[in-house]
Amino acid sequence: MRFDVLTLFPGIFSAVMGESIIGRARESGIIQVNAINIRDFSKDKHKKTDDYPYGGGNGMVMTSQPIYDAYRHVIGDLPYRPRVIYLSPQGACFNQSRAEELKREEHLILLCGHYEGIDERIIEEIVDEEISIGDYVLTGGELAAMVMIDCISRLVPGVLSNEASCVEESHCNGLLEYPQYTRPYEFNGKTVPDVLMSGHHANIENWRRKQSIERTRTKRPDLYRKFMDSNS
Ligand code: ADE
Repeated sequence: MRFDVLTLFPGIFSAVMGESIIGRARESGIIQVNAINIRDFSKDKHKKTDDYPYGGGNGMVMTSQPIYDAYRHVIGDLPYRPRVIYLSPQGACFNQSRAEELKREEHLILLCGHYEGIDERIIEEIVDEEISIGDYVLTGGELAAMVMIDCISRLVPGVLSNEASCVEESHCNGLLEYPQYTRPYEFNGKTVPDVLMSGHHANIENWRRKQSIERTRTKRPDLYRKFMDSNS
């Protein structure tokens, strides 16, 4: 799967997306993350990428031209048109089921805004959908783009070494994941629950399911209500 990120700050991506699971998936070629510097496409003699808002007001607005040319550069002569997502606090909220849908795309273009926003006409011209990662405002779309890339990539076959871990984790079935334990058996006087030491697989599965349900009820009553509604 390929992600092309249109950004004014490509350096942010090289650090975070070069490490750990995503770094390895990039090295092995399962996923591609390209950060494209919008400024490289500015036709302004000072390489400006923003300007004052028409009608007045605070802050600067990102201009259409460099974004459009960066986008045209990415699509080049591709035989298909990749889906373009604009990261914005005005978008629909990203969640696990959106990630499941988006992992089916071969190629995504993620547009990161900054300042007070970007010229509305570029949104109309190239953007298919706006996505927010939560009801709060970040200084730019870069962190949001990385959240999406991380969350979608780990669902792409081959990115996680143990694919089963993707099936049993929090949010996959509408419930939070059960508690996990590893060695030592005793830590600061606390021991591992007996059932996990029993080797009885059916009992362990049963215990984990009950823990999942109980955790969801106490930690995320909103999810618990949804879960109960869809299972009644
Ligand atoms: N840009 C600024 N805030 C954002 C948010 N909450 N989600 C996505 N992009 C953003």
